[in-house]
Amino acid sequence: MTDRKLRSARWFETQDLRGFGHRSRIMQMGYAPEDWSGRPVIAILNTWSDINPCHAHFKTRVEDVKRGVLQAGGFPIELPALSLSENFVKPTTMLYRNLLAMETEELLRSHPVDGAVLMGGCDKTTPGLLLGATSMDLPAIYVPAGPMLRGNWRGETLGSGSDAWKYWDEKRAGNISDQDWTGVEAGIARSYGHCMTMGTASTMTGTTEALGMTLSGASSIPAADSNHIRMCAAAGRRIVGMVESDLRPSRILTRASFENAITVAMAMGCSTNAIIHLIAQARRAKIDIGLGDFDRLSRKIPVIANIRPSGERYLMEDFYYAGGLRALMQRLSDHLDLGARTVSGATLGEDIAGAEVYDDDVIRPLDNPLYAEGALAVLKGNLAPDGCVIKPSACAPKFLKHRGPALVFDSYAEMKDRIDDPELEVTEDTVLVMRGAGPQGGPGMPEWGMIPIPAKLLKQGVRDMLRISDARMSGTSYGACILHVAPESHIGGPLALIRTGDIVSVDVPARRIDMEVSDAELADRKAAWSPPQPRFERGYGWVFTRHILQADKGCDLDFLESSHGANPGEPAI
Ligand code: FES
Ligand code: MG
Repeated sequence: MTDRKLRSARWFETQDLRGFGHRSRIMQMGYAPEDWSGRPVIAILNTWSDINPCHAHFKTRVEDVKRGVLQAGGFPIELPALSLSENFVKPTTMLYRNLLAMETEELLRSHPVDGAVLMGGCDKTTPGLLLGATSMDLPAIYVPAGPMLRGNWRGETLGSGSDAWKYWDEKRAGNISDQDWTGVEAGIARSYGHCMTMGTASTMTGTTEALGMTLSGASSIPAADSNHIRMCAAAGRRIVGMVESDLRPSRILTRASFENAITVAMAMGCSTNAIIHLIAQARRAKIDIGLGDFDRLSRKIPVIANIRPSGERYLMEDFYYAGGLRALMQRLSDHLDLGARTVSGATLGEDIAGAEVYDDDVIRPLDNPLYAEGALAVLKGNLAPDGCVIKPSACAPKFLKHRGPALVFDSYAEMKDRIDDPELEVTEDTVLVMRGAGPQGGPGMPEWGMIPIPAKLLKQGVRDMLRISDARMSGTSYGACILHVAPESHIGGPLALIRTGDIVSVDVPARRIDMEVSDAELADRKAAWSPPQPRFERGYGWVFTRHILQADKGCDLDFLESSHGANPGEPAI
């Protein structure tokens, strides 16, 4: 099948006691030499589990991938991997993204594998699988789970995340009944597939396609569409060809492909989580992408995907019918490097040739965008020397330039306890500050960054306030929330030193965030600061705490970065 010696041949073709062991044990499962001999072994990393609704269909889709692998002459083996259900994993899946990345790398390293199909979609599974596959650098193709169908309640379209909050407020306000609420509960997630708003899942599967790591158009196909089944089989067929031509991630992932991914993220009105994941992915690929690249591209790329929560009406299903990501990229052609290579073996330009937009309201023309610039902005100053992030398109314009006194909460628990206190000294000009929610402090940087508006102000009609934290926020959230403050408070970043009453000034056009406190005073406060108790004393959490990098570096574990040391090479067998 190929002139190159397959990696898996080291297991299956050696005429020694080890080779005997591998062959006799694969025969134990009913396979004959015709099944494996001379055929690339394709690992299918499946993040299915009984408690991940976003991947429920992977139980059968994996059979479609296998069908494709067999058709093309490969030998498929399914390897289950950490499922990371965003809904059920506590305290946050972000704590475990790197565990999936490690598992992916080691599954591929330790098994007789020549190429890999990566099956994921729910938020952290996409970066987790890609980080590991990039480090291992065997030919790999990504199979995105696809978005679930639009939610529906009494003929009303419901979107993941965003509408849960909206109707929860209606219920608290007494506008809908318990029975209505149960109806919303049953209607908001009505098929398998990942969240169908432009949350982290749709953002990351879209950027993965823009990077060139999926078949063209794959990320937009709804999970329940039969095109999704055919895409799975096609990916199975394609990976065999990729092994034959040795098309590894290192030949696909370049600075140009990451700039394409960031450009597409901006045009989609991406989740802020994209920043952390793409920086981590780029660093694994030995490409120095940082916050500055996001800020630079954000200034020139308009938001043209009219999908909630940036847009008002549409969801991923509408995006697919309007032409999907291929059509969006066709529209962005002038901003993309169309010469970038993809898993197809062709260029991005060839992959998207002929793609058309079928609905100009869903995928807007560049001269009629949703927002002319700025899916996000990166701010720096004495409160965040290594940077922090805001989504200007999601906040009330008056907060883009704001000066006000800080009201500081030391932790999420304290904030939750006090935020609705009628005695809370707060006005709409107050800047709500929460610390202890970063990569180490959270731990795992939970999505707590959309600090609730104090009940007292809600009653006065206030709907947005400036909020600052070292947390992340869900891709379906909104408001004047400044996130990812680095370095975080838990390790003594300046966020640990700010006090209630200090004046905070934020200037988004100038990209500044400062507290009006003198350097001398900050030095005194720092000298008096003592580090909080470590969160974990054993297990994965202990490793995580010791080795997690800050948000501006992508929150990878330092020893997993490509710069950490020599590649261990192939296992002895
Ligand atoms: Fe899986 Fe939203 S819960 S993508
Ligand atoms: Mg999410």
